[in-house]
Amino acid sequence: MGHHLFVDYHFHPNFRFGRREAKKAWRIWKAFTQHDLGVVVVSEHNWKRPKESFELLESHRPAGARTLLLPGAEVLTREGLDIVVFGSDPSWYRDRTTAGLLQPYRLSVEETIDLVSSRDGMAAFLPHPFTRGTTGAVDFYGEELAATLAGRIGGVEVSNNCYDDCLKMAGRLCSRVLPDTHRRMSLTQCLTEEFLNLTGAGFFAHGSDAHFPGELGYGCLMEVKSPPVDPIHAFELMTSHLGRESHARGEEKPPWLRAWHVSKSMIITLGEAMEKRSIRKDLRRLQTSPKLVNDLATA
Ligand SMILES: [Fe+2]
Repeated sequence: MGHHLFVDYHFHPNFRFGRREAKKAWRIWKAFTQHDLGVVVVSEHNWKRPKESFELLESHRPAGARTLLLPGAEVLTREGLDIVVFGSDPSWYRDRTTAGLLQPYRLSVEETIDLVSSRDGMAAFLPHPFTRGTTGAVDFYGEELAATLAGRIGGVEVSNNCYDDCLKMAGRLCSRVLPDTHRRMSLTQCLTEEFLNLTGAGFFAHGSDAHFPGELGYGCLMEVKSPPVDPIHAFELMTSHLGRESHARGEEKPPWLRAWHVSKSMIITLGEAMEKRSIRKDLRRLQTSPKLVNDLATA
């Protein structure tokens, strides 16, 4: 008799490392259990301490919790593109050879792909290719090249749930007023068969891209012989999954809750965009600092 395993490839604990993190971790674990999530990739942005976020979440694992966590990060490449990487064990967080993955704007897309593929027990996928801006590959490379890139990376995110509340709340209005934005949001929610076939990716990811517990409960169902007993087995299942169907759990949200989640998500997205901007500004200042230029000239 087979078993249905519910997994989420893309999750942000969004810890701020203040005094309320234990409560936040407790709420996240509660949601994992409530939705019966078997495996979750903890893919915190690489400028928001992914290693510490993974460790903090694991350290608050409640007794009896069965969700397996895979250590990951959403890498912001030098070009500004997002690539989700994850491993079967957290040793890569401490390894000097993979340290560049934890620094925003450090590695190019090519370097990120080469680094991940050269290391056993690590994999990567291209998240939300149709998201607007530099973080989505289609705006960056165009559809055809973005699909080729997804194939080179290894996996592609077939569905990302980040616009779900927004589409359900204002999708019809958006499709009339901002048709292209609506199209991009819908394609983030679910890629077309044509695009997927073009990628030739080795595995298909489905992620909630949740930044708070209320957004959890989205991913995909896998038919497995038995639930994975350890992260190595979970990693094997995740990196060979070719199912195109996503799966949503949880009750239908009342309109007020949906509106609250949309505003919460917008505030987080805006905050992250500002943080990224200031990191980029700092890096530019560092790269063009008179002292550094001087040092390089006299070297
Ligand atoms: Fe994300």
